[in-house]
Amino acid sequence: MTKTTPYKNALVGLLSLASVLPDGTTASVLPRTQECQRQQYPGPKNPSFETGDLSGWTVVNGTAFGKSSVTTAASSQLGSGPFNQVGKQFLSTNLQDGEAATGTLRSSTFKASSVMSFLIGGNYDPANLYVGLVLEKDGSLLFSQTATNDEALIRIVWDTSAYAGQNVYLVVVDTSTTGHISLDDVRTGCDALKDGPHTFNILGQSNQPTSKNLTALSAASRYAVDPTRPQYHYTPYQGWINDPAGLIQWGGKYHLFNQYNPVAPLWGPMYWSHAESTDAVHWRDLPVALTPPYVNNTQDTSGRYTGSAVKNQDTGALQLIYTDATNVTYHPHAVPEVVSSAVSSDGIHFDLYSGNPIVAEAPPTSSAGFRDPKVFWDPTANNWKMVVGSGDGHTGNVQLYKSTGPSSSELLSWEYVGVLHQGDGSRGIMWECPNFFPIDDKWVLFYGQDKGFKGWYEVGSFNGTTFVSEKLGLFDSGPDSYATQWFVDDAGRNLAVTWINNWNTTKWPSRVNGWAGTQSIMRELFIREDGGLGQKPVEEVSLLASGPAKSLGQTDVFGTYEVGFTDTARLQATVDLAASDAPAFTIELFASGAESTSLVYNFANRSLTIDTMNAGYGQAGTWEATIAKPADNRLSLDILIDRSSIEVFVGDGTAMTVRVFPRYQESKNIRITSDGGKKTVFDDIVLTPMGSAWE
Ligand code: FRU
Repeated sequence: MTKTTPYKNALVGLLSLASVLPDGTTASVLPRTQECQRQQYPGPKNPSFETGDLSGWTVVNGTAFGKSSVTTAASSQLGSGPFNQVGKQFLSTNLQDGEAATGTLRSSTFKASSVMSFLIGGNYDPANLYVGLVLEKDGSLLFSQTATNDEALIRIVWDTSAYAGQNVYLVVVDTSTTGHISLDDVRTGCDALKDGPHTFNILGQSNQPTSKNLTALSAASRYAVDPTRPQYHYTPYQGWINDPAGLIQWGGKYHLFNQYNPVAPLWGPMYWSHAESTDAVHWRDLPVALTPPYVNNTQDTSGRYTGSAVKNQDTGALQLIYTDATNVTYHPHAVPEVVSSAVSSDGIHFDLYSGNPIVAEAPPTSSAGFRDPKVFWDPTANNWKMVVGSGDGHTGNVQLYKSTGPSSSELLSWEYVGVLHQGDGSRGIMWECPNFFPIDDKWVLFYGQDKGFKGWYEVGSFNGTTFVSEKLGLFDSGPDSYATQWFVDDAGRNLAVTWINNWNTTKWPSRVNGWAGTQSIMRELFIREDGGLGQKPVEEVSLLASGPAKSLGQTDVFGTYEVGFTDTARLQATVDLAASDAPAFTIELFASGAESTSLVYNFANRSLTIDTMNAGYGQAGTWEATIAKPADNRLSLDILIDRSSIEVFVGDGTAMTVRVFPRYQESKNIRITSDGGKKTVFDDIVLTPMGSAWE
């Protein structure tokens, strides 16, 4: 049956985040912000600094605050905006006397309402840079919140119901000589949650389940509380992750390790966190696998950088081969990057190899860096080989090693072969995270360009020592993919996980909730019809569905069609290109009256564009990919939507990945619009609700 718009929008309202957590627990751990009307009192004086000065606020100590502390967006001391302040003016702690100045500012006393909120921006430093709420009668600090290392202001909501009616005041504390924070638009009562018809997402560290009730909650429940947190993608509960590492199927289970900093949602001395999965899509956290060597000095960033995992064919052990990075400021005589190993017989506890390092120095053509060893089996020579990311200062390159050791020691003893491949300088001077492997009758090399942070693939041939490239392309055409790692599973599939983030942006809004970094869904790699590297989600992604898929069948879209209301779903759509006569169609995700992310397909030039210019707190931009002309005239899209991430997989193998951080609870609409008053014909539109990746 063909349905044409306007048609009863079958899927709207079916899918929305339940207020009951996945394990059945209800409200006690959730912020009670929906009860905002219970007690409402006026907030502090001059709550949005619109007087242009500190009227109503008192300098408690220090030199950080004075008549220059309040600014409009024009201030160059804060770098470039937009700052997204409310009204014109806001407060920042470095305007009066520079970044080094310290001090404390307090608001007038006000009665706590059930709920309050405010905007915060600036640097992350929970101990030295924060906005706090103080109980006047005993001076105790009830709440505190630091910023994200980005100037754009983010709204924090506090459930102050436990103190409602009591006298409180805000403090702005800056005891840091290297950073600042900004504050704007303090609101109390239901005003704290509402922006016209829209309701702010409940963000802020104090809304995350604390250590007290952490253990009572399943991972799925803990993870469900946070509106910025993907539900079926791997994230750290608190702290930071970057590169996926050590990917392997070992003892039947899939293992994922991550570059990890448990101390803060920022990069730091690198640990390896560890999770396992029986089906490649549901995860269970295991103890940290590797710990940095000098944990007592937080300034010393020496750590265990990215690497790979292999099964030792003789002992059966799980062996990690990784970069030991040493901060030469603290260890001037050390070699900054060497290859080391650690081994585990139970897949949980890892012992560092006593003979580390296993590659003690970089070859001469690696002056710009030498890291991220990836071990692979070379079926053409029947031996283990290893690629290492590198660069000579003019161009990035990939160094090739082969194993020399007999049997069980063969993963510990390596001979340098030479430069496997190098660039022409146009793709950076240092290549990180190289992976090299055969697919079909081709070899694939991919790597990350260190400046600009783009992930590239090249498809070509390998003669045992060097690679000849035949085709070059971006691994992922969105902004948020980097440091991809490949592996082969027991079924012989070429799989990969990419970090759904990138170093390019300072926008990491989930830092207000104590964490940063997401890993992609498990992706299967293949050679595209045009000879490039293609990818699609693994079949097991269907196991993540939390309910039946809703299929609309054949649908002719004229104007705008509302597909559903959800931020945790899979949207699959197939467009009949021949039957459609519109110039373009747009899929809007995370959409409300205030914001949305759009995916625009232009029929004439076959371009697919992601636009986050008005998508909320995340990185604003547009990114475009050209889609191959499908032989059957069908454009198929498989879109994984997960609270703050979007992965788009197109039928030709193109992938586009982007992080999006909506401001409002209403920003969950999924809409399709056909442009130019013409129709876009869908063979089918299927929306599947998705559950949690946490078992
Ligand atoms: C890539 C990278 C790697 C390095 C790791 C450090 O994102 O810079 O080259 O091993 O991150 O965490």
